[in-house]
Amino acid sequence: MAITKDIEAVALHLRAGGIIGLPTETVYGLAGNALDQVAIAAIYHLKERPASNPLIAHVGSMEQAKSLCAEWPAEAELLVKHFWPGPLTLLVKKKEVVPAALTAGLDRVAIRMPNHPLALALLGLLPFPLAAPSANPYMRISPTSAAQVDAYFGERLEYVLEGGICERGVESTIIGWEDGKAVLYRPGALPQEEIERVIGPLAMPASSTAIVAPGMAKRHYAPQTKLILTNDIEQSIKEYDGLRLGILSFSKAFSADTIVRMQSLSKQGDLREAACNLYAALQSFDEVSLDLILAEVFPEEGLGRTINDRLRRASVELE
Ligand code: TXA
Ligand code: MG
Repeated sequence: MAITKDIEAVALHLRAGGIIGLPTETVYGLAGNALDQVAIAAIYHLKERPASNPLIAHVGSMEQAKSLCAEWPAEAELLVKHFWPGPLTLLVKKKEVVPAALTAGLDRVAIRMPNHPLALALLGLLPFPLAAPSANPYMRISPTSAAQVDAYFGERLEYVLEGGICERGVESTIIGWEDGKAVLYRPGALPQEEIERVIGPLAMPASSTAIVAPGMAKRHYAPQTKLILTNDIEQSIKEYDGLRLGILSFSKAFSADTIVRMQSLSKQGDLREAACNLYAALQSFDEVSLDLILAEVFPEEGLGRTINDRLRRASVELE
């Protein structure tokens, strides 16, 4: 694969129906023409993702966003004024032009305008939006660097746009509307509190909507090594004495003979820095041989909620 900054070459490849690695401010995506069923099928195939799990359409302008949706709630307008381009995805009623393959047959389409200069420049060269799930094989950890996309897909991808390390490091927040009420489907890089400051309290998805709700697969974002969440790392280290341990903490470093890899996400205790470092740290545990990862529960506020959500999903075991 070529890791490149040549957006012209990449745009040509996309126009010809190809798939690329796309940098965004959240995580890297596997991108193709969102209006082309064949490109969409190629993304599902590469990612080994079940066709029942829909993709986000990335747009470069408001006109393009509106060309995809049949309804545009007043709250959507308010939210995009505040947060686009940025890590906020909106679920809205789709127009006919949006292929059923993109939305997995659902009547809503997920749309976002990424806040990354290369992604926006590329979208500006294209006459279509880009479908892009995170650029990881199904159930693996989302990549936050071009090198990680290369490690996952290698020669199966012709191009990855080199956009540096993702500055947010966790996926976009997903909001939709049910009976006129805004619902938080996936906590993400835009904290719930910031959204609520603009449109008031968000509802949580009813459990019956779990299937149509995004990012809700039971196990997700997971390293290969078993991971347990704990409120008391010190205590858990004692409890699992004799095992080869990986530790993931917020700011404090722990030491013990049994610790093989120690990762604290932000020495200053900054949640934004912690989110940015989360996936690379999780990934790094698989580079050494461990029996168990102990991950600290983060403060349940702002980006801490998003980090806890990802860690909870990483801790779910496969049946
Ligand atoms: O930050 C992000 O959102 C990244 C970057 C690349 O933009 N993308 C990303 O895509 O996280 P993905 O496919 O890994 O996660 C998108 C989630 C999925 O869980 C999917 O179920 C949900 O969005 N989703 C997409 N379209 C939907 C739809 N029409 N209805 C319900 N859920 C949808
Ligand atoms: Mg994903």
